Amino acid sequence: MNKKLPRHSSSIKAIAVLCSGGDAPGMNAALRAVVRYGIHAGLTVYGVNKGYAGLIRGHWDVMDRRSVANIILRGGTILKTDRCPEFHRKAARRKAVELMRTQGIGGLVVIGGDGSFRGAHSLWTEFKFPVVGIPGTIDNDIAGTEATLGFDTAVNNALEAIDKIRDTAGAHERTFLVEVMGRNSGYIALDVGIGGGAEAILLPEEKVSISELARKIKRGMERGKMSSIIVMAEGQHSGGSMGLAKSLKKKYGIEAKVCILGHLQRGGSPRARDRRLGSVMGVQAVRALLAGYSDVMIGVEGDKEILVPLPLTVKRSAKLRRDLLEMADILAS
Ligand code: ADP
Ligand code: F6P
Repeated sequence: MNKKLPRHSSSIKAIAVLCSGGDAPGMNAALRAVVRYGIHAGLTVYGVNKGYAGLIRGHWDVMDRRSVANIILRGGTILKTDRCPEFHRKAARRKAVELMRTQGIGGLVVIGGDGSFRGAHSLWTEFKFPVVGIPGTIDNDIAGTEATLGFDTAVNNALEAIDKIRDTAGAHERTFLVEVMGRNSGYIALDVGIGGGAEAILLPEEKVSISELARKIKRGMERGKMSSIIVMAEGQHSGGSMGLAKSLKKKYGIEAKVCILGHLQRGGSPRARDRRLGSVMGVQAVRALLAGYSDVMIGVEGDKEILVPLPLTVKRSAKLRRDLLEMADILAS
């Protein structure tokens, strides 16, 4: 038992679970685990429809074991998710807590990203309502955990696409600019770039000038490369991949085809790692609530699950491995 973590003293008989923010493959696995482990532990488990938007309206249903049958293999989330601007107001959060308490719900599991955790943290600080977070975002940008739900699947989805683009890029001897997700975070781009053998990897955290990018593409051509793949995160260039392609053409005469992978990265059946993560985190979230913890996220460190105070997950941005970026550059040259 960790004495430094926040504790609640409620005797919990029922919990609610919701998904919030962008969906991520593995959310259903986590939901299934929360429901089945919760029932195993003698709890009533309510599934909230559409994230915080459903929470402030009392849109929830009791989940039984069968309600989560055959969902571990499905992407998206059967609860549906949403972004809820109203939840930024304290009055809306108060309403959610009142509705939950009236229903006899004594704890909430929030599956989402750092924004969703900010909302959950407020429920604890303002109303002492017990909350536990499960990191569910393909961006993998949450501090305090080595992995988030959906990242592995999203990276593999993007890699499958890149492998196909390689075929056509090679056949036509073209340069491709492939835009992957990650508005503020380069984790997806970094792993996709390394795994896809990209000639350059452009991350929001590590701005590369157009002249430097042009130099890398030309360096490849001089070394006999007839086609190139540049992987860029969506947040890397203010004009997006289209803007970057235009600048490459205008300033350096380099023609680059653009392929924006977009939301296809977020969909599809979760891979084994995300199913396992979701299952384990779902169980640990229920255990944490029942053990009296609140305002914590279930994180992973190596092969262990850990409890991370929510404020630590929301205040820091995860650190990128810049050494990997340098390594990828050497391997691509
Ligand atoms: P993610 O959880 O994936 O980071 P968002 O940042 O869009 O996604 O946040 C999801 C939802 O969490 C928001 O639509 C809002 O309802 C809630 N939320 C985000 N930030 C806050 C905040 N500071 N206070 C209260 N609720 C918040
Ligand atoms: O899930 C995270 C993320 O994929 C970001 O990388 C991206 O910027 C954002 O969600 C886009 O989500 P939406 O289209 O749902 O706003």
